[in-house]
Amino acid sequence: MAREFSSVGVVGLGTMGAGIVEVFARNGIDVVAVEISDAALERGRATLTGSTDRAVAKGKLAEADRDALLARVDWQVGLDALHSVDLVIEAVPEHLDLKQRIFAELDRVCKPEAILATNTSSLSVTEISVATTRPNQVIGIHFFNPAPVMKLVEVVRTVVTSADVVADVEALCKRLGKVDVTINDRAGFIANALLFGYLNHAVGMFEARYASREDIDAAMKLGCGLPMGPLALMDLIGLDTAYEILDTMYRRGGRDRRHAPVPLIKQMVTAGLLGRKSGRGFYTYERPGSPAVVPDEQTPVATGAALADGARAIAKVGVVGSGTMATGIIEVFAKAGYEVVSVTRGAEKSAKVCETVKTSLNKGVVRGKLSEADRDAALGRVTWSAVLDHLADVDLVVEAVVEELSVKKALFASLDEICKPGVVLATTTSSLPVIDVAMATQRPADVVGLHFFNPAPIMPLVEIVQTIRTSAETTATARAVCAALGKTGVVCGDRSGFIVNALLFPYLNDAVKMLEASYSTADDIDHAMKLGCGYPMGPFELLDVVGLDVSLAIQRELYLELREPGFAPAPLLEHLVTAGYLGRKSGRGFRDHTNR
Ligand SMILES: NC(=O)c1ccc[n+]([C@@H]2O[C@H](COP(=O)([O-])OP(=O)(O)OC[C@H]3O[C@@H](n4cnc5c(N)ncnc54)[C@H](O)[C@@H]3O)[C@@H](O)[C@H]2O)c1
Repeated sequence: MAREFSSVGVVGLGTMGAGIVEVFARNGIDVVAVEISDAALERGRATLTGSTDRAVAKGKLAEADRDALLARVDWQVGLDALHSVDLVIEAVPEHLDLKQRIFAELDRVCKPEAILATNTSSLSVTEISVATTRPNQVIGIHFFNPAPVMKLVEVVRTVVTSADVVADVEALCKRLGKVDVTINDRAGFIANALLFGYLNHAVGMFEARYASREDIDAAMKLGCGLPMGPLALMDLIGLDTAYEILDTMYRRGGRDRRHAPVPLIKQMVTAGLLGRKSGRGFYTYERPGSPAVVPDEQTPVATGAALADGARAIAKVGVVGSGTMATGIIEVFAKAGYEVVSVTRGAEKSAKVCETVKTSLNKGVVRGKLSEADRDAALGRVTWSAVLDHLADVDLVVEAVVEELSVKKALFASLDEICKPGVVLATTTSSLPVIDVAMATQRPADVVGLHFFNPAPIMPLVEIVQTIRTSAETTATARAVCAALGKTGVVCGDRSGFIVNALLFPYLNDAVKMLEASYSTADDIDHAMKLGCGYPMGPFELLDVVGLDVSLAIQRELYLELREPGFAPAPLLEHLVTAGYLGRKSGRGFRDHTNR
């Protein structure tokens, strides 16, 4: 017969524990909440009160329900209070010896039939279970941060966890309104195994001053639709906890260098910069525990000041190319009030590009986003040409021709001859080194990458790629132009994948490797990332949309540039591409799209 869970215990009321208490108490289950000291207990109680008060203030919880919720919690110091609960969830710091000590003690204190669960993110549930005399009743119940909000729970069974314990815990998750994925005991389970390499890589970019914290975070939010950037997420997780998770994953997960914690993390932990909980991490917060970021010495000055930094005035823009990106970019500049000279390789192509821009602007009119007058004015600003010499008097050229280095280099050499001095020459390349293109001219200081995302009129992000020869004035001009276009420009170095692709594709590749290793299914992995981390799409959904061939090409470039063994493309990805399974565009990728 299935177990009834009428009372549960939660041990450790920090970032996770306090949220887990709320999840149970909200669902009508009595909770014994245990901490190590009165002070820690008070902190946990304050977290719960704060969270439920906010829910009341937002109208999400009735006052009477809040009072009933709080009345279900019995606050206690010491594990002895857990003698009669049906289930304990441990959420103390991520140290194996501490957890083993606590489980040995829980085994002694708790009634024989009680289930003992750990919320560990990366430690071996099996190793924790053998500290008890009932390893068959030990299980991982891994909640996500913040526990009351995130829908996912990873249920981790060891080789000795009883099937009935797994089934009862799965039923409990359902009762709590959570979606569970049940998996075996492997470092990082699904979500963290895919998340932490990415987080560590992002910290590495910040440590190397490849881009600023604001730009790294904005890139991932705006380029991938993530709910928060990686550095803000590190602050939410807690740098001490993140350090322990990375360290354990490195040691348990085959010593993948990508999990070796970036030295900066340890330094910040030592300095007490733990993230939100201590009031300062990568960002500074109003006070410890507050989600409100306040300005500090690293906060960038407003974009207006960039103009004072010597940005050049731009009024007339040349756009070279006739593909999807060029067409979108012409529309973006024309709508923003710039005079645009579109240059293609022939009148026929120009007519086609003109037609596409018109159709897109008309859609804006139909949707009520653009007036007819504004549409006509935007179109009136564009000159259509097939002659490169017509770029003699523009202030900025944006090149969006085919992604081939020889073609781009030849074009930039011509632009160098045609364009007046002081013009900013930009390439939209997504994978070629900008410096190669810059060196085809006699004016590399004026060359910059402007990496727009597709569709350009909609996507709010532009990566501004600075080579080692790009002048500060050119970068300032690029920043000012992005701001004038209503886009967020993020500045980064000239490395393969810039910010977004360098952080995104290794994660997608890792998901393929996880599937290949039969650790989980594509559906569960997609669920885990959407419901555990708030991603708008799971990795396999995204791979099918982006195209497996495109993804493989990007991953290969990253691997070739960095020679990082962990970046080697997943063999399964290679095989699917060879087999012609390219994603939605070919009708089949990781999923079959023919009948959808
Ligand atoms: N932070 C996250 O985003 C996150 C997400 C999922 C899982 N986890 C996991 O949850 C666990 C807790 O992490 P956290 O981030 O909440 O840590 P935390 O440091 O915020 O909180 C840990 C709490 O445990 C208490 N504690 C320490 N020793 C204790 C003892 N002997 N008895 C009772 N309480 C004790 C501490 O006083 C502290 O309040 C870890 O295993 C972590 O890996 C963390």
